[in-house]
Amino acid sequence: MDALNLIELEAQAKNRLAEMAWDYYRSGADDELTLRRNRAAFAEVALRYRVLVDVARRELSTRVLGCELELPIMLAPTAFHRLAHPEGELATVRAATAAGTSMILSSLSTTPVEEVVAASGRDVWFQLYVYKDRAATRALVERVREAGCKALVLTVDAPLLGRRERDVRNRFALPKGMGVQNMLAEGYAEVSAQDGESGLAAYFARLLDPSLTWSDLEWLRATAQMPVLVKGVVRADDARRAVEHGADGIVVSNHGGRQLDGSVATIEALPAIADEVGAELPLLCDGGIRRGTDVLKALALGASAVLVGRPQLWGLAAGGEAGVRHALQILHEELDRAMALAGCPDLGAVTRDLIA
Ligand code: FNR
Ligand code: LAC
Repeated sequence: MDALNLIELEAQAKNRLAEMAWDYYRSGADDELTLRRNRAAFAEVALRYRVLVDVARRELSTRVLGCELELPIMLAPTAFHRLAHPEGELATVRAATAAGTSMILSSLSTTPVEEVVAASGRDVWFQLYVYKDRAATRALVERVREAGCKALVLTVDAPLLGRRERDVRNRFALPKGMGVQNMLAEGYAEVSAQDGESGLAAYFARLLDPSLTWSDLEWLRATAQMPVLVKGVVRADDARRAVEHGADGIVVSNHGGRQLDGSVATIEALPAIADEVGAELPLLCDGGIRRGTDVLKALALGASAVLVGRPQLWGLAAGGEAGVRHALQILHEELDRAMALAGCPDLGAVTRDLIA
């Protein structure tokens, strides 16, 4: 693995991936304004570093909702890892374990949750999409708990799927033999080709519940018997509602620019949410994090840890388990270096005054 940074890793992944998979992974919705804005907004945040602090030793480990992390970077839930590599989610979770972090497994995993948890040496969290079929949803939550997942991440920014035009053009579908493994028994595994539409958008429209409201969060909180985080919040008032309805954590996210195009960048949304609820529960943040300095900026603006989405897929496509490890290693080293240069021996020193 010779990629010096995650941008180079992305270029390597592009060469390895079938076009339909590359397009699916890389796309944002519509004009991809938010996809670009997530990155561009990081460039607008400037660091006011400290000097003459002893940074001979740096401590990057932390704990989020009982989950021990050797670095404040987790793997965001992303669908269909077997499109990137035959070992799929198993390769990803092994790499996360080796790197000292945890994976949030997508509802749309191409590997059963039990196998992923068994292959992991650390906590695994599970991202939940709520099906119109509530009995099936309840069964999924129970299955995930029995499998040993330690938290649920309820994604709330996808009542239907954002329109990714390349997926429409490609008639995105999963190949035969690949499917939504955790919903096989319910008959909801297949993502098949549709005329004039992405097969995944059709899957969402047919099966997932667009009528979810805050009261469903309370239902889930009572059913789950584990911490529940809400993923996809960009407003302080929604963050407050999440707290009021029992959320244990919030993921500030716009789904990597794949849902409502024109949305605010997540690093722009984070400070107001941190001001509103940051003292009450852990905040995670994702969207466009590609450098250790991006991680430092997000932590300074109030995140307890960050998630990375596409970079894990670039690693997986470029080199399977070793590729995902490489992606995490790059970020780990970059964050360590950024902390040293910013005068931060540990995460407690990463405070808002680092931002100009
Ligand atoms: C996602 N994301 C996502 N989110 C989620 O809650 N459930 C899911 O199944 C998926 N699937 C998915 C697939 C792919 C290919 C991508 C790129 C993203 C969104 C993901 O969790 C995260 O919010 C973003 O990926 C973060 O942005 P970056 O790091 O990709 O820029
Ligand atoms: C996506 C869904 C699966 O972004 O979350 O493609």
